[in-house]
Amino acid sequence: MKKKRLLSGIRPTGPLHIGHYFGALQNWVALQDECEAFFMVADWHALTSEYQESGRIPAFIRDNVADWIACGVDPEKATIFVQSAVPQHAELHLLFSCVTPLGWLERVPTYKDQMKELASKGVDNYAFLGYPVLQAADIALYKGEAVPVGQDQLPHLELTREIVRRFNHVFKRDVFPEPQPRLTKVPLLLGLDGRKMSKSYGNAIGLQDSEAEIRKKAQTMFTDPQRLRRSDPGRPEVCNVYSWHNLFSAPERRPGIYTECTTAAIGCTDCKKELADRLVEFLRPIRERRKELDAHPGKLDEIIAAGNAKARSIAERTMAEAREAVFNRSR
Ligand code: TRP
Ligand code: SF4
Repeated sequence: MKKKRLLSGIRPTGPLHIGHYFGALQNWVALQDECEAFFMVADWHALTSEYQESGRIPAFIRDNVADWIACGVDPEKATIFVQSAVPQHAELHLLFSCVTPLGWLERVPTYKDQMKELASKGVDNYAFLGYPVLQAADIALYKGEAVPVGQDQLPHLELTREIVRRFNHVFKRDVFPEPQPRLTKVPLLLGLDGRKMSKSYGNAIGLQDSEAEIRKKAQTMFTDPQRLRRSDPGRPEVCNVYSWHNLFSAPERRPGIYTECTTAAIGCTDCKKELADRLVEFLRPIRERRKELDAHPGKLDEIIAAGNAKARSIAERTMAEAREAVFNRSR
């Protein structure tokens, strides 16, 4: 059976953290065998909100790709490429923008929320409104059939489906398949302070944080707010540290932590120390693989260049079909 085409991307706006690992990378690694996978550095998407600091993006591109590989993304199996190295993304974005009514974009639920959150960056620009159109082009350019997404990205994918349907209908040719979401079980992992994990909140553990940083950050984690004294029993079910233990500690150990917390046998400082040990163990192999990669920077450049070349050739084939459909050629 032919493997399904799968496409996903991450915006290179900063160093990656464990939220990226559990929200995306872990899944990418799991899907790269079963699918013909394309993993894209969405630098043009980053630019739609970070254009005032565009000079920072190139370093994040290399840094992020190195972390993807350190996390197990295998360039022998998947195509790793950079969006802006494949200008066909911009061309298809333009064609798609012709068949996308403004109303579709204005009603994307994330749009107004993000506008508020990122107001200081000047996201009242045209490109930011068109973000989902560019994302549709990313997927369609590779005739992507599957897109691994979390619940929050579902509206974007639904819009992609509407745009390709409209394109095929308006230009009377079945150029693009409608991609299906690959809804992935993403474990709940909040930031150190219990809010959504985000680099901009400074509440994340970076994939490349040093052991000392990890230990220091773990001690700042919010716990059961009602557990004020060491002798108070705690409530693991409302404690963010415990939910992290559920992800990082061995299944056999979790009931022990639960009981020790509810009987005040363990204090929060020790509980967080134990969590920090697990975090350090979890990140060690990723950091080691990253160190090997950094020792041979030419290798990373080769991987990216090969991925870009492959992506470009597929993208150009699709664009030839799309141009034909639009301008009614060869009928
Ligand atoms: N919007 C995605 C994010 O912020 C990144 C992205 C860009 C993407 N193009 C994509 C994801 C295509 C899936 C498919 O995480
Ligand atoms: Fe949370 Fe651990 Fe403290 Fe219990 S002992 S409240 S699980 S940090």
